[in-house]
Amino acid sequence: MEQRHRPAAAADDTTKRRATKSKSFKDVENYEVLVLEKNCGCKFKSLRYLLIAIVSATFLTLLTPTLYERQLQSSSRYVDVDWIWDKTGADPRYVSSADVQWADVYTAIEDVSAGNRELKIGLLNFNSTEYGSWSRILPESHVSIVRLEHAKDSITWPKLYPEWIDEEEESEIPSCPSFPEPNGRRGAWFDVIAVKLPCTRVAGWSRDVARLHLQLSAAKLAVASSRGNRKVHVLFVTDCFPIPNLFPCKNLVKHEGNAWLYRPDLKAVREKLRLPVGSCELAIPLKAKGKTFLSRPKKRSICDDTAFSK
Ligand SMILES: *[C@@H]1O[C@H](CO)[C@@H](O)[C@H](O)[C@H]1NC(C)=O
Repeated sequence: MEQRHRPAAAADDTTKRRATKSKSFKDVENYEVLVLEKNCGCKFKSLRYLLIAIVSATFLTLLTPTLYERQLQSSSRYVDVDWIWDKTGADPRYVSSADVQWADVYTAIEDVSAGNRELKIGLLNFNSTEYGSWSRILPESHVSIVRLEHAKDSITWPKLYPEWIDEEEESEIPSCPSFPEPNGRRGAWFDVIAVKLPCTRVAGWSRDVARLHLQLSAAKLAVASSRGNRKVHVLFVTDCFPIPNLFPCKNLVKHEGNAWLYRPDLKAVREKLRLPVGSCELAIPLKAKGKTFLSRPKKRSICDDTAFSK
């Protein structure tokens, strides 16, 4: 008796539930109808738009990274973006803790880009986030990342500046270790080469292989960009000033926070780049003998505010 009763009760329950369900469904239907009437039939249209929007948003989200990367690659064709960014993260020597003050960077560079001129800007040692910021503060400009393979770990400061050098060249001809070259497209040139320089701010910070490598690379890019009367600027973002022998104070055009804008004397830079990088090698031309571009500067090395007019 109970057994028979139970299913009946259960069935009753289900019916009840179904009734409530259909009731609430009807309520919704009523509501929808109300809405439909109020919106004069626009609801289905807007629903369709909403659906299209959701689908395209999902599609875009899925697609965005590849699109972004492809955009990066097409805007800077000679860049292996993933590669350098991964490497930058992996190699602590090249990591700069300098906080990029975009307002300062913009102020430093605004005269160069005067009149919204489209600038070609080459970035050295900036990461993907910073690349985005560069493109944002100078939307008219063409920003690209220059790939730079990092120096071998075996290149140390004492290797560049050994205490002893075999001047007689008896045992073997001394030579300096070579740094990887900035990897630009052939014939590529820039109006501005921007470099983020690491600076440890501890004693001997200037004896930093990565720092030297980056500045050498900037100098090489500047020289490669020179043609005719083209003005080439180098902008450093760093907490310590750049090598005065390569970028002397008299070439400093503007200094805002940790942004240093130089207009290097390209003829002088080209000459300096011909010299051995350190005392690891004897300069071959007689007049340059014993010189390296890192030899002690004659004047004081820190650029003060009187060193430049602006
Ligand atoms: C890039 O560097 C900045 C400053 O060091 C940092 O805040 C940011 O997270 C970095 N972005 C990437 C993608 O590593």
